[in-house]
Amino acid sequence: MSDPIQPPKTYHDRQGNPYWVRDAIPDDGPILVDLLTQVGLEEIYIADDGAGLTAEQESRLIEQRNPEVQCILVVEQKGQVAGSLEMIRGVMTKNRHTAIFGMALFPEFRSRGLGRGLLQQAEAWAKAVGVLKVSLAVFATNHQARALYRALGYQEEGRRQAQYLIQGVYVDELWMAKWLSS
Ligand SMILES: CC(C)(COP(=O)(O)OP(=O)(O)OC[C@H]1O[C@@H](n2cnc3c(N)ncnc32)[C@H](O)[C@@H]1OP(=O)(O)O)[C@@H](O)C(=O)NCCC(=O)NCCS
Repeated sequence: MSDPIQPPKTYHDRQGNPYWVRDAIPDDGPILVDLLTQVGLEEIYIADDGAGLTAEQESRLIEQRNPEVQCILVVEQKGQVAGSLEMIRGVMTKNRHTAIFGMALFPEFRSRGLGRGLLQQAEAWAKAVGVLKVSLAVFATNHQARALYRALGYQEEGRRQAQYLIQGVYVDELWMAKWLSS
């Protein structure tokens, strides 16, 4: 197995401006809690109502994570944290070859193409720890996220009908997955 900690990497957005994807550090705890709280309050993108953790708990989680099981990445542009992705691999013998992830950007950093590098960096981690299959769940109404996943080779595997009630409307949940090539 290669080193699971991926070195920070610079990517370029659609306008050619650089952005940077790196491993999270404990000091990121407060901003990552702000991110999940904010995106949760938007209601239409993620299932979580909010972060569910305090900033201190998030910092501790980052500090104590096992880098062979959990990957927490941060994307930065112009010195500001733009978003984050968390990927967790299966820990049982039967699902060690799989991982699932969730990701989100702050509203002002969306639609620039930052999600692509963030997910590519997470896939590099997944390959490094020997994961073969990466999956995610997405609201059927989240067309931008679905387009990003499709563009990176994720395919629909299943649909849970009316799995969520979002702002008074029942919404299907799609499961998507990608087999990583070596
Ligand atoms: C989903 C998210 C991570 C995508 O990252 P991003 O950097 O903003 O995505 P991009 O700007 O590269 O857009 C992805 C694709 O969607 C397309 N797209 C944008 N808006 C779209 C829409 N309304 N319908 C369909 N496609 C859309 C873009 O053209 C792009 O496709 P392309 O690469 O072929 O040009 C980000 O927008 C986000 O954080 N959203 C809120 C939280 C969220 O939804 N998280 C995912 C939960 S599963």
